[in-house]
Amino acid sequence: MVTAVLGLQWGDEGKGKIVDALCEEADVAVRCQGGANAGHTVVIEGTKHVLHLIPSGILRANTYCVIADGVVVDLDVLSEEINRLRSLGLEVLDRLAVSMRAHVVLPLHRRIEAIHEEARGKERIGTTGRGIGPCYSDKAARLGIRICDVLQRDSLAGKIKALYEAHGFNGTQADEEIERTLGYLSRFADLMRRVGKDTHVILAEALASGKSILLEGSQGFMLDLDHGTYPYVTSCNTGIHGLLTGSGLPPGALTKVVGVAKAYVTRVGAGPFPTQMEEPFQSQVRERGQEFGATTGRPRRCGWLDLVALRYACRTNGITSLAITKLDTLGGIEILKVCTAYKYGGKIFDVPPPSAGILSHCIPQYKQVDPWRDLGTLSCFDDLPREAKAYLALIEEWTDSRVEVVSTGAERASILRA
Ligand code: IMP
Repeated sequence: MVTAVLGLQWGDEGKGKIVDALCEEADVAVRCQGGANAGHTVVIEGTKHVLHLIPSGILRANTYCVIADGVVVDLDVLSEEINRLRSLGLEVLDRLAVSMRAHVVLPLHRRIEAIHEEARGKERIGTTGRGIGPCYSDKAARLGIRICDVLQRDSLAGKIKALYEAHGFNGTQADEEIERTLGYLSRFADLMRRVGKDTHVILAEALASGKSILLEGSQGFMLDLDHGTYPYVTSCNTGIHGLLTGSGLPPGALTKVVGVAKAYVTRVGAGPFPTQMEEPFQSQVRERGQEFGATTGRPRRCGWLDLVALRYACRTNGITSLAITKLDTLGGIEILKVCTAYKYGGKIFDVPPPSAGILSHCIPQYKQVDPWRDLGTLSCFDDLPREAKAYLALIEEWTDSRVEVVSTGAERASILRA
């Protein structure tokens, strides 16, 4: 059985918590794409855990974790993350495999990204600064350094030389960079010998023996390189197609696709965001929902639930069930509305237009909905106020998907199953 969990908005939907809940029954958890730009948060008995690279499944003692082919691995972040988890008493090394095919994010990639962002000026993407875009570019240009390369000392220097030359370095400057990069990578060789694996074999065996596998998506579908609000996107496929490519699992193996969406929307970084809230709602929601980036600490832009984008995301990903998070954040907000269409140039759009330029000028068409009180502590789905249930029913009707899970607080326990 293979369950995929992916974000349906612009990231930060609360996937970490939903994955953690679903991992109770998962034998293997897999990160498939993206890199340390992700920040998946799980709160257990008041302690907040933020994971950037290792699947959230690591917090469940019986779940084996895989960082698969499609992930771009920042070795500094990975080793820090392993050390932090071990200092909390969690055994990590025996439960973690990193694909030998995964690409390595080098310090060079972060530097290139800073230069590109600076050069864009007002048009900057507002990236997380983690070197993700340049690493995926080198991968596509067939210049990338992979985990298997780190362990092949005889050919590694040649590969690094080719990479630096392609980026315009030569002479002594190139030699110094190559030496520095070799030194940097050699710091991680022992760790890679320990956790570097052919993860295809691990996943194929897990599948053949009937184990339950959970694919943990990162970022959100509206940041997908092909289907999102290009160019204000991340540099990989964040939707179901990217999870399959990144893990290497066959599409037919997929049994369930869980889409995670917040009861409202947020976005960090630049790019069109039609339903951005007006004040004072935006500040209220940001404070109540603690909408600050888990990776960068940046304040997130907050918006009303965008049913146009959500329906597009559900349809394109073949969502079989929905998890709606942060329903509690909207409790007590006096006016609530949802976007049901966009208007641009006298025309009504019921799907997001392909051009980011047009999307940024679309006027959202809103439907007002009944607000609900503060949720407080709830023990079951039936305890939800009538208005909150009506809100969930509206989402179901618009997306043609069933809401199976509702999250009503940061804690692991604040979760209701419909
Ligand atoms: P990059 O992935 O760092 O290249 O950033 C590209 C865009 O994706 C920027 O707008 C980032 O803010 C956004 N982004 C990347 N990762 C995440 C995430 O995990 N959550 C929310 N936004 C993200």
